[in-house]
Amino acid sequence: MSQESSALERKIRSKQVRVGVIGLGYVGLPLVKLFLTKGFRVTGFDIDPKKVNSLNKGRSYIRHISTLELRGFLKKKAFRASGDFAGLRNMDVIIICVPTPLDVHKNPDLSYVLETTRVIARYLRKGQLVVLESTTYPGTTDEEMLPILIKGGLRPGRDFFLAFSPEREDPGNKSFSTGTIPKVIGGLTPDCGRLARLLYDQIIIRTVPVSSTRVAEAVKLLENIFRSVNIALVNELKIIFERMDIDIWEVIQAASSKPFGYMPFYPGPGYGGHCIPVDPFYLTYKAKEVDYPTKFIELAGEINTRMPYYVVNKTIDALNRRDKSMRNARILILGLAYKKDIDDTRESPSLKIMSVFLEKGARVAYNDPYVPRCAGHREYPGLDLRSVALTAKRLKSSDAVIIATNHSVYDYKWIVRNAPLVVDTRNAIKRKRKNVIKA
Ligand SMILES: NC(=O)c1ccc[n+]([C@@H]2O[C@H](COP(=O)([O-])OP(=O)(O)OC[C@H]3O[C@@H](n4cnc5c(N)ncnc54)[C@H](O)[C@@H]3O)[C@@H](O)[C@H]2O)c1
Repeated sequence: MSQESSALERKIRSKQVRVGVIGLGYVGLPLVKLFLTKGFRVTGFDIDPKKVNSLNKGRSYIRHISTLELRGFLKKKAFRASGDFAGLRNMDVIIICVPTPLDVHKNPDLSYVLETTRVIARYLRKGQLVVLESTTYPGTTDEEMLPILIKGGLRPGRDFFLAFSPEREDPGNKSFSTGTIPKVIGGLTPDCGRLARLLYDQIIIRTVPVSSTRVAEAVKLLENIFRSVNIALVNELKIIFERMDIDIWEVIQAASSKPFGYMPFYPGPGYGGHCIPVDPFYLTYKAKEVDYPTKFIELAGEINTRMPYYVVNKTIDALNRRDKSMRNARILILGLAYKKDIDDTRESPSLKIMSVFLEKGARVAYNDPYVPRCAGHREYPGLDLRSVALTAKRLKSSDAVIIATNHSVYDYKWIVRNAPLVVDTRNAIKRKRKNVIKA
């Protein structure tokens, strides 16, 4: 164990470490809050000056952290946000939570992680622990980040320490939050893993050590591929069972009574969020290096991305039966977020559904109590709408109302009473109604 390692260990144990979190989004900010709640001093770094200013003024932009809490931490001088990355030199621990999206060719876009690593390398000094939390393919930490970090001559595992620990945040989950979700940790060397574990043991209910950064990277991908494949499976079964006049929701409910060997996944209008539609393709890319095609991932992606079109086609059929064409039909989408009771619209199937309806000449409006405006989406540059008020008049004057996200605040009985046609993609309406179709 090096001198730096022992010194950092002492600092972590006594909570004297200064923690720097890079990327203050859905993952970074809850992590900041957790460290603060457990008595650490934290600096949050972000390239977005609006986020930095907002936080320093005590205004939170995500629901995980309240303005009151934030102001308390600022007053105690336990927290501050910064866009000046020279401040990284003063940190003992640097945790990276920047985006890892796909590029237009569905290949991993590691530019955020690599840019951040280059910035860290500029200020890296002895005794620092660097942890990557962003989801990525196996090999990112040791093959991509490490060469950048050692350029200045510091020795990994002796002078500085490097680990990967995947974030498992589940927005909107009331049972689990950052602090109560066990955390997998893989170090570049055993000592790197030990120090990272020591750190997270101070704030997280349980840590799960694994033998390397690559194993930790693969764990996260397995979790998300598992979800993607199972969601695709029930989406496909939904279509097959529907042709057999069998309600998939009833099937899933009954199957869930099996106490072992089965866990329920639910069909929907497609899949959304930053993780499930994106992360599996990180492995698809990397698997090419070992000359093996990721068939399950690709097939699941194909089925899931087809689902928004299925919803649109079901709506067209239902309107046809009412002697209505899609052109100029008034379509009201309920729910823009990719899942219930949250405000995150990234990769949301509602966006795809809206844009396909618009392409077909429909007049589209949406309501989402959590998303007042729909604009600025990279894949849908033309979409710029504001959430309309959900009134009986609006429902009555719509040709079709699509329940795309089953937010709990919606009064579904009232919606069915007032809308001429409801297309329910989430089983929000349990009883059979003449004006409701499942899609
Ligand atoms: N959102 C989730 O539920 C979730 C769950 C598990 C894992 N993840 C993973 O966590 C990572 C972050 O996701 P997120 O949802 O928090 O993203 P986000 O878009 O909400 O936040 C990312 C933040 O990083 C900032 N940023 C971008 N480039 C930067 C740079 N070079 N330096 C500093 N800051 C920079 C952005 O301004 C933004 O504030 C991704 O890899 C994602 O796959 C997300």
